[in-house]
Amino acid sequence: MKKKYHIITLGCQMNERDSETLAGFLEERGYEKAAPASSPGGVFDGADSADILILNTCSVRENADNRFFGLLGRAKHIKERRPETIVAVCGCMMQQQHIVDQIRGSYGWVDMVFGTHNIHEFPRLLENVASESEKAYRVLGAREEIVEDLPAKRAYGYKAFVNIMFGCNNFCTYCIVPYTRGREQSRRPEDILREVEGLAAAGTKEVMLLGQNVNSYRGAGADGTAVDFPALIRMLDGVDGLARLRFMTSHPKDLSDGLVEAFARCRTLCPSIHLPVQAGSNAVLARMNRRYTREAYMALVEKLRAARPGIAVTTDLIVGFPGETDADFADTMDLIERVRFDAAFTFLYSPRQGTPAATYEDQVPEEVKHARFNRMVERLNEITLEINRGYVGRTLPVLIEGPDKARRTGLTGRTETNKLVNILAGDGDAGCASGAGSAGSVQPGDIRDVRITDVNTFSFTGELA
Ligand code: SAH
Ligand code: SF4
Ligand code: F3S
Repeated sequence: MKKKYHIITLGCQMNERDSETLAGFLEERGYEKAAPASSPGGVFDGADSADILILNTCSVRENADNRFFGLLGRAKHIKERRPETIVAVCGCMMQQQHIVDQIRGSYGWVDMVFGTHNIHEFPRLLENVASESEKAYRVLGAREEIVEDLPAKRAYGYKAFVNIMFGCNNFCTYCIVPYTRGREQSRRPEDILREVEGLAAAGTKEVMLLGQNVNSYRGAGADGTAVDFPALIRMLDGVDGLARLRFMTSHPKDLSDGLVEAFARCRTLCPSIHLPVQAGSNAVLARMNRRYTREAYMALVEKLRAARPGIAVTTDLIVGFPGETDADFADTMDLIERVRFDAAFTFLYSPRQGTPAATYEDQVPEEVKHARFNRMVERLNEITLEINRGYVGRTLPVLIEGPDKARRTGLTGRTETNKLVNILAGDGDAGCASGAGSAGSVQPGDIRDVRITDVNTFSFTGELA
């Protein structure tokens, strides 16, 4: 019988992509994914039968840390019931010495600890644990060079994440990521092209390019010249079979005219951009070390909308950064009115140990943070709904993602602007046919015209046109 693995992934797409690499290593070594139990048990579903249980952690806000310690408590029960299960913890939290010390001190039953820079060493660490029944700790080292051609067990067939760079040099004063992911390093353009070509040839329709700040991508081209991000996009735009290209995340301070132009020109580049603004007050932006002003941000959005009418602009916002006054908050609300975001992720400022802002003395009281947060979310949602209403009656190409499990209405998919569409089952047409290729069947990865019949804040309803 094959050995089983179960991976729980917290955090962002970087971690999701890393988990695909870990799964790839394990499958190469004869493991298979543990089957979910018949009674669903949330993120631990299947973990009971796993020979290795991996927790891939995030440290971006305090609640991410807390969530991890909660999950670790549940992992301990599994270890007690089945001591031969290898428990591994990895990811961004494990790049911090104080966390690793805590694991060693209070969670001695954890078998493996490794950080984000050591993914490629996973097979060796696993061997050590399995053969010598020794604990394996390997953290904190800086990535020396990018290791290419690691295996990957991709989470989806029709879409894929592709790293173009690792790390971050920006040191926004609230953010832990530069400490957990290290300095910026760009992959070579030909390695990225090869990966995207391979994916497209295998049927992947949509590629999401990943980096903490893709705008500072600078890859070494084959002839020794540097390739910047717009040039990389142009290179990938020509890949056979690829229908949709997206990227994340793009820092406003160095979004170039070349990228704006790519939105106007590149066939596959989707009209959608995630452009975190964080705050609408110049004083707060300066103390965050974001290195742009509200005026510059708004001008950028205007340029993007002129280059690609209808482009969806989404953002991240932090409420209650140290020293945020009522007037600062009013500036953020004003920016929200002016820009009108398609959607926004809003976060309560969370002090992270080791970052400059955590030591700032003028921390905003929790109740003030919460009151501002609620006001902001309410207004953001209203604007999202107003924008979404403009989609009713339109017929749009939708990339089919799969059957709609939650509502059982038929299929789900995404517009080019990345809006989620629930496609109603019509007269036997919608619904993933089990017989591939049967007439009228729709498969994940197909792009179909869908008429939008109804919208709400977080999703659309439509029918196949
Ligand atoms: N590299 C990406 C973001 C990575 S973290 C970028 O620069 O856009 C994702 C989001 O988490 C950030 O955009 C920010 O809004 C939020 N975030 C990061 N640190 C935070 C903190 N200490 N408290 C609250 N939100 C935070
Ligand atoms: Fe964090 Fe800023 Fe880097 Fe984004 S750009 S990962 S917010 S330091
Ligand atoms: Fe991502 Fe969380 Fe790390 S947001 S980069 S997994 S700290």
